[in-house]
Amino acid sequence: MDLFEYQARDLFEQHDVPVLRGIVATSSTQARTAAEKLGTPVVVVKAQVKTGGRGKAGGVKIAHSPEEAEATADDILGLNIKGHTVRKVMVAEGADIAEEYYFSILLDRTKRKYLAMLSKEGGVDIEKLAEERPEALVKKTFSPLDGMTDTFARELATEAGFSAEEAKALVSVFKKLYEVYTEEDATLVEVNPLVKTTGGDIIALDGKISLDSNASFRHPEHKDLADHGATDPLELKATNLGLNYVKLDGSVGVIGNGAGLVMSTLDVVAYAGEQFASNPKPANFLDIGGGANAEVMANGLSVILGDNQVKSVFVNVFGGITACDEVAKGIVQAFKILSSEGIEPKPLVVRLDGNNAEQGREILTQADLPQLEQVDTMDAAARRAAELADQHS
Ligand SMILES: Nc1ncnc2c1ncn2[C@@H]1O[C@H](COP(=O)(O)OP(=O)(O)OP(=O)(O)O)[C@@H](O)[C@H]1O
Ligand SMILES: [Mg+2]
Repeated sequence: MDLFEYQARDLFEQHDVPVLRGIVATSSTQARTAAEKLGTPVVVVKAQVKTGGRGKAGGVKIAHSPEEAEATADDILGLNIKGHTVRKVMVAEGADIAEEYYFSILLDRTKRKYLAMLSKEGGVDIEKLAEERPEALVKKTFSPLDGMTDTFARELATEAGFSAEEAKALVSVFKKLYEVYTEEDATLVEVNPLVKTTGGDIIALDGKISLDSNASFRHPEHKDLADHGATDPLELKATNLGLNYVKLDGSVGVIGNGAGLVMSTLDVVAYAGEQFASNPKPANFLDIGGGANAEVMANGLSVILGDNQVKSVFVNVFGGITACDEVAKGIVQAFKILSSEGIEPKPLVVRLDGNNAEQGREILTQADLPQLEQVDTMDAAARRAAELADQHS
């Protein structure tokens, strides 16, 4: 789960990482009040969206009075930054910046270690720097067993070109950021820019944190950080039903059993869609898992049919421990459940293969369900589903 900057700021503060005060506002009037509360001669109004490059998109602006903060917030709220609509801003104290650095900690899965990155030339052009002069961005791995030791942190700073004096101040900040990383169970902690003020203080001016959702059981307090406003309503419904569902942009609904099969189904559907004028693409990822019983199938179908963009549905099942005849019964019962709920079916292509595929197909043939077609191979079924989506587009 990625956090907003203001949430990262809060977690930093809880772990004594030096930050500036910041107040969240959802309207321009609130932004004005926030600026009044801060009472500093300069405030910065910052778009809260979960994407980088906000500054360059006009989402980070300085204001010299509460009135100006109000007007600035009015400009920023509602902006679309890389597909994210700005619904909140953070009004933060203005810093007197002397230098901007870049610092991050992340997981290096291949080396089974943590990776720390540091550059003296942080700020909004870090991506360009990493590409054009990678030597200016120092990357150093360390063992989770050792953690961020003083020695490691000092070496990192020295290798990035900081003096011994500068390194001293940085080491304590790095160690606190490492504390955030481990104690909050993060997979990424990034500070860009980490600034040195004209007064010589080190401050984390912008923070990105990704939390490891596998560890969420250890952090009941993180529940409040979830952003329901931004979650797609269908994804929310699916989550509540315990389904692994991700909304995509296309018109062919996809249901399969097993994440690997569903992933390849998405590819096959996208490929098949290229043959048709409207270029239909997958509308979602939905893995109904191993025990695909009627209720799970009905839940899955009801989520997918609730998506207005969906014009056809492809149910791709490979029978393993759960045999195809069980899945077929599930589909038949799912139709009953859906019709009792008044949910209209859409053209549905079913491909059953693997354990008891014959019996499964027979059950579906006997049931003679409205708008349901069976196709025996994955490629041909994907093609038919794409064709149906194209016809109904
Ligand atoms: N509180 C502040 N006081 C003064 N200047 C600031 C403040 N916050 C940000 N800035 C300036 O604005 C620039 C961009 O801000 P910030 O890094 O927060 O947003 P960003 O452009 O979205 O960055 P990213 O791409 O990392 O998300 C900073 O590099 C810094 O120069
Ligand atoms: Mg930044």
